[in-house]
Amino acid sequence: MKILCISGSPRGKQSNTFKLAEEALNEIKLQCTDAEAKCIHLADKDIRYCIGCGLCHRNLLQCPIKDEVSNILQNILECDIIMFASPVYINNVSAQLKTLLDRSSPFIHCQMLLGKYGAAFATSGGGPHVMVLDYLEDYMVSCGVQYVGGVSGPMSEFDALKEKAKALGGQIAEAVRESKEFSDQLATMEIRRRFFRDVISSRKEQWAGEYEYWKEKGWL
Ligand SMILES: Cc1cc2nc3c(=O)[nH]c(=O)nc-3n(C[C@H](O)[C@H](O)[C@H](O)COP(=O)(O)O)c2cc1C
Repeated sequence: MKILCISGSPRGKQSNTFKLAEEALNEIKLQCTDAEAKCIHLADKDIRYCIGCGLCHRNLLQCPIKDEVSNILQNILECDIIMFASPVYINNVSAQLKTLLDRSSPFIHCQMLLGKYGAAFATSGGGPHVMVLDYLEDYMVSCGVQYVGGVSGPMSEFDALKEKAKALGGQIAEAVRESKEFSDQLATMEIRRRFFRDVISSRKEQWAGEYEYWKEKGWL
């Protein structure tokens, strides 16, 4: 079972948010002996902005920008559990993480991450933080990931947050063990699939790669 942790902090391994995610990661590894974990620090990666050319929709996930994004997206496709960690930067995820997510829109159009479980982690300097979890939950469910939960809070509560992260790790392990279904999220995915069915059908030529993916899935 592959766990992938993507940290959006520019502070790399020094990131407190990453340390929070590590608490969950260690708990999953304790409870699932077959767990293999990989951590990607976006701060170490060459990640450029989406240029909005639409090639990734026409030829599924192909991108004219030759940086490290396609490798990261491949890692996401290959994992069973995806965890995102981001500091709160001006009331949102870090620019590093947002830039990566902008490069992944076929994941959303085609719900390419169906069957995976996910979780999110955020820390703030003291201000609001829940919107980062809300944003990452919405992103993951849009991609087909079942969101097990998230932990966020101000750094003044770091010790308590670490305990919550450890508990969340246990919940993730349980979800995987029991192939848990989050029926409300599965219903949301079904509604979004209905919405995208019309979009994908109406852009059959323009988004040929995505149209083919939908056809292969039998969703059209
Ligand atoms: C550019 C920048 C923007 C930030 N914006 C916020 C913010 O909007 N609200 C807040 O409470 N803290 C903000 N902070 C503080 C960080 O969220 C906080 O220090 C966080 O714990 C850092 O996490 P890290 O160690 O994982 O990088 C900001 C810090 C930086 C450098």
